[in-house]
Amino acid sequence: MISVNVKENVIKSLVLNDIKQPYELEDRDGLTPPAGEVVVSLKAAAFNRRDYWITLGMYPGLSLPVVPGSDGSGIVTALGDGVDEQLLGREVIINPGIGWGEDERVQRDDFHILGMPMNGTFAEQVVVPASQLHDKPPHLSWVEAAAMPLAGVTAYRALFTQGQLQSGQHVLITGVGGGVATFALQYAVAIGAKVTVTSSSTGKRNFAEKLGAVAGYDYRADDWGKQLVAEQGSPDLIIDSAGGEGYKTLLNIVSPGGRIVNYGATAGPPAKFDLFKLFWKQLQLVGSTMGSPADFAAMFEFVNQHEIKPAIDRVVKLEQANEALAAMATSDQFGKLVLEIG
Ligand SMILES: NC(=O)c1ccc[n+]([C@@H]2O[C@H](COP(=O)([O-])OP(=O)(O)OC[C@H]3O[C@@H](n4cnc5c(N)ncnc54)[C@H](OP(=O)(O)O)[C@@H]3O)[C@@H](O)[C@H]2O)c1
Repeated sequence: MISVNVKENVIKSLVLNDIKQPYELEDRDGLTPPAGEVVVSLKAAAFNRRDYWITLGMYPGLSLPVVPGSDGSGIVTALGDGVDEQLLGREVIINPGIGWGEDERVQRDDFHILGMPMNGTFAEQVVVPASQLHDKPPHLSWVEAAAMPLAGVTAYRALFTQGQLQSGQHVLITGVGGGVATFALQYAVAIGAKVTVTSSSTGKRNFAEKLGAVAGYDYRADDWGKQLVAEQGSPDLIIDSAGGEGYKTLLNIVSPGGRIVNYGATAGPPAKFDLFKLFWKQLQLVGSTMGSPADFAAMFEFVNQHEIKPAIDRVVKLEQANEALAAMATSDQFGKLVLEIG
């Protein structure tokens, strides 16, 4: 092993020991990378909805105790055997999707995400395969860089790889304010698409308009879909992570020949599904999950080119992580919740 500036024999780590329990801040032994892997000394880490589902025990393949956290930015401080020595001291972000495989269309069965079952980024150090590292974008702070990976790549694949969004098209992004939805809004605006959004919060709709959305609608209101079509026309593409009862409105308002891309089901599955709408309108319903290594690299090229900065709702210390977790229960945030570590 080759290492630099490794003074921590003991590192602070947040640990989830049991479901429905708060994270515990524990002192753990400093990490040693196996062959092909590296230690990243973390500067910042960010929450995703996944971290919240895990605390509730509502995530497949649950394995505890675990250091949670999929997103992180930091400095490479130790190398396992066989790793390129030039990585030592490099400022990096981590691709949390591990083992995608060769098929761009879909991940392998053993694809997994950093932060359960593998220990993740809510700690002073994390061990990851060297192949997961990417250079930190120069225009981003540590906190901003940590906010990007999981939500950023999910938005990129949903919008461009699966959604095929083009400049000038109308895209509706539901539940804006969520981490992925906010990136989707920023990316779509950056390429010159017309963006409409939904949110139950007036504050989030107003903020989305500041980021470039042309209009926002409250998905709880009767006939919000009809109003959207009357005022803005039918969306060519809808990016949705809510599902639930509201899904039938999406089938009603999407343009004939249009697409709906789903990457989540926060509100559960729709109780009914109108197959007639699907075939008569010649719709394409497409699923999307995170992104391939090629999506990840393309996303950071795009983010660098357009100098996109993530919307950060709040930044807290490791010691305050349970407060940030509580905020996820009410979904009142706009943008990312970030832990400042180093
Ligand atoms: N497949 C993947 O790779 C992947 C990756 C990341 C996330 N996800 C999933 O995507 C979902 C969103 O995650 P996130 O971390 O981006 O966001 P988040 O922080 O969980 O935000 C959730 C948003 O969902 C909105 N929402 C809740 N109920 C809704 C409804 N009935 N209709 C429309 N919007 C509704 C809320 O909107 P308002 O507060 O604005 O009303 C809130 O802003 C989660 O289910 C997550 O598990 C999947």
